[in-house]
Amino acid sequence: MKKRNTLALVAGASAMALALAACSSGEETPASNGATATAAGECNVGIAMPTRSLERWINDGEGLKSRLEADGCTVDLQYADNKTDQQISQLQNMIANGSNILVIASIDGTTLGPVLEDAGNAGATVIAYDRLILGSPNVDYYATFDNYSVGTLQGKYIEEQLGLAGGDGPYNFEAFAGSPDDNNARFFFAGAWDVLSPYLDSGQLVNPSGTAPASVDDWQSIGILGWGSDDAQAEMDNRLASFYAGGEKVDVVLSPNDSLAQGISQSLQLAGYTAADFPILTGQDGDKASVANILNGVQSMTVWKDTRLLGERVELMIKSLLAGEEPEVNDTTTYNNGVKVVPSYLITPEVVTADTVQSKLIDSGFLKPEDVGL
Ligand code: BGC
Repeated sequence: MKKRNTLALVAGASAMALALAACSSGEETPASNGATATAAGECNVGIAMPTRSLERWINDGEGLKSRLEADGCTVDLQYADNKTDQQISQLQNMIANGSNILVIASIDGTTLGPVLEDAGNAGATVIAYDRLILGSPNVDYYATFDNYSVGTLQGKYIEEQLGLAGGDGPYNFEAFAGSPDDNNARFFFAGAWDVLSPYLDSGQLVNPSGTAPASVDDWQSIGILGWGSDDAQAEMDNRLASFYAGGEKVDVVLSPNDSLAQGISQSLQLAGYTAADFPILTGQDGDKASVANILNGVQSMTVWKDTRLLGERVELMIKSLLAGEEPEVNDTTTYNNGVKVVPSYLITPEVVTADTVQSKLIDSGFLKPEDVGL
């Protein structure tokens, strides 16, 4: 499969390589240049993103599109409103319109098998973007962040802030997980749980709501379908009303990402928590609203995934494919999609707290000061 895809791309590879070389050496790419026009025709990329409702996917999609267009590729970027059927029909259109490379951030990682079979039959190369696509042999590469590490960083942050390794506790602890249909959510949860579950066993963390899963494998029981802030807020409201009504205080909440953390933070604020007594609350993504919350003391940290690096990685993969080479990967064991282990490139995520918003997020140009009220 991979071989055939690579070969299918080789035909246009040398002309495309010329176009890319011209771009990287700063030369103009004349529209009337025959070779360049052909090359651009060979690089037809369909980018399927899950939704515009979350800031990160807008940045991911637009960023990747401009990179590839600057390289002379034709790009069809689509967002699917978090609806699987919509994403499938967008992919069908991309294949019908001749996309020879598909970059897909799936909504439900299990539902794309049939449309990817069509992609395979059409000779298109499929790159799973950020989220693994499950149950299909027609997934050629996977570019993502180290998802297990995201959870480890959240778990370790909690461990350090609460002095758990030194024996401190007990602390009232609540846990949330991401969307049950997103393969990443399992990795995020597992990374955090491997750090934190020994402290639940020792009684240093107690879980008044009783919702914490008995084992990592049960993570979906606390998953928030679709990653919605409102649903996370409603769930936190429920737990506060049912299990903390007698004046007990929440000390710490494990949230897998920023969209959930925003809802949880809102719930806690409405229940009367302020920056002065705010529970530890984790997140992920470096969303503007969450970074503002961090600066205001109503979220503790975010695990930052510089999506520009992911875009750059996918661009490199596409350049290799077009040059008839195997894209570089750095993990060939972790991401088994149920049919095959998908060759992956994992990027390292990092923690951002109030102290490092400026140096990591602003100075690098990821966010503007005014985005976060600075
Ligand atoms: C991504 C996260 C994101 C979440 C919700 C996950 O698959 O890896 O960065 O917060 O989806 O969109």
